[in-house]
Amino acid sequence: MKVGLAGWWQTQSTPAIPRATLNAAADLGGKTVLVLGANAGLGLEAAANFARLVPAPGRIILACRSAERGEKALAHVKTTTGYEGKLEVWQVDLCELASVVRFADRFDADGGRLDVLVANAAIMPQVYHATKDGFEESLQVAAIATPHVILRLLPAMLRTAAEHKTLPRIVVVSSDGHYWAQIDERVWDAPGPDAGILRTLGSAAYCAQKGAIFARYSITKLLNVFFMRALAARLPADPGSGPVPRVVVNAVHPGMCITDIFAKFPLPVRALIRGAQRLVAYTADEGARFLVWAAVGDAAALRGQYIGGGRPQESSDFVLSERGQRAQESLWAEVLDILGDVDPKVLSIVREYLEEPKQHA
Ligand SMILES: NC(=O)c1ccc[n+]([C@@H]2O[C@H](COP(=O)([O-])OP(=O)(O)OC[C@H]3O[C@@H](n4cnc5c(N)ncnc54)[C@H](OP(=O)(O)O)[C@@H]3O)[C@@H](O)[C@H]2O)c1
Repeated sequence: MKVGLAGWWQTQSTPAIPRATLNAAADLGGKTVLVLGANAGLGLEAAANFARLVPAPGRIILACRSAERGEKALAHVKTTTGYEGKLEVWQVDLCELASVVRFADRFDADGGRLDVLVANAAIMPQVYHATKDGFEESLQVAAIATPHVILRLLPAMLRTAAEHKTLPRIVVVSSDGHYWAQIDERVWDAPGPDAGILRTLGSAAYCAQKGAIFARYSITKLLNVFFMRALAARLPADPGSGPVPRVVVNAVHPGMCITDIFAKFPLPVRALIRGAQRLVAYTADEGARFLVWAAVGDAAALRGQYIGGGRPQESSDFVLSERGQRAQESLWAEVLDILGDVDPKVLSIVREYLEEPKQHA
């Protein structure tokens, strides 16, 4: 699907999901919800919305890069919702894969259940900035560290499904920006040490090219969709319920929302965007409810889907193209190759818990 102005507006003008609808759909009693990138914007408001839905003794984990910002977020969730269940801040910096390893090891040691994982963290870059791992930071957050967290926490979700007879949910926060992204020719055929889509896109040399950083955010959102689809195709089915996987994954576009995601833009541009946002954008609370809906709405309808305006929508033509399919599989292999070097547990998890890819619905 291509999205023109009319299609964009159709999604953007969809009314926010009412709290009553979320309440009616959600069955979160006693469950554990983890929001990645929970200290600001949509992640923070998603955590607050989950807090309204998860009756005590549920558990909500705010996974944040800064413990200090996380504690402020925790106080916000507590005061705005009166939540009485377990509310915790766990530190994780997606710009450092060693931090993801520590975070996941802590989760393994904790041994708790995991019912909902909302992978929401993102960066909208304005300049090239490399992580300690050597990748452009927004690319690492979206396409390497987010898959890292998801794959490492997958065994806990599958265990939760088996022990509690439930259907855990993974929500990858993407964007309609993915409709405008393609992976261009220079990336596919790049020779040398940076060979591979992620290694090429993540390199200083590629990012120095004209327009590369400008196009970066949409590409990260495209990579979110690719990862979601690659994972959905490999999730094991429940033998008792036909093709329904034991964990459901989808990708969601929350709509254009008023948050600080544009904070790194120059002031005049920011002011212009703020003006436009006041006219058409959702509040962070309204946008967050689309994230929550992706986690609690009808699993059969939403599984493996890209969701916009609260309903499944076709992904971009590039995603669905033969070239896109090849990109998806090549990215999957490269993510495992990169993660295998820093965290061998990822490869064991893939071998033990995931299946050969099925054709995507
Ligand atoms: N706002 C929109 O109009 C819009 C539209 C479509 C899609 N989205 C998507 O919605 C999601 C949330 O966006 P938002 O608007 O709420 O953005 P935001 O206000 O900038 O929040 C981004 C969150 O990601 C976290 N994060 C960034 N880098 C991280 C890292 N290295 N490690 C851990 N956490 C990190 C941030 O933490 P720090 O505070 O530590 O940086 C923050 O909590 C993103 O995936 C975005 O692409 C937003």
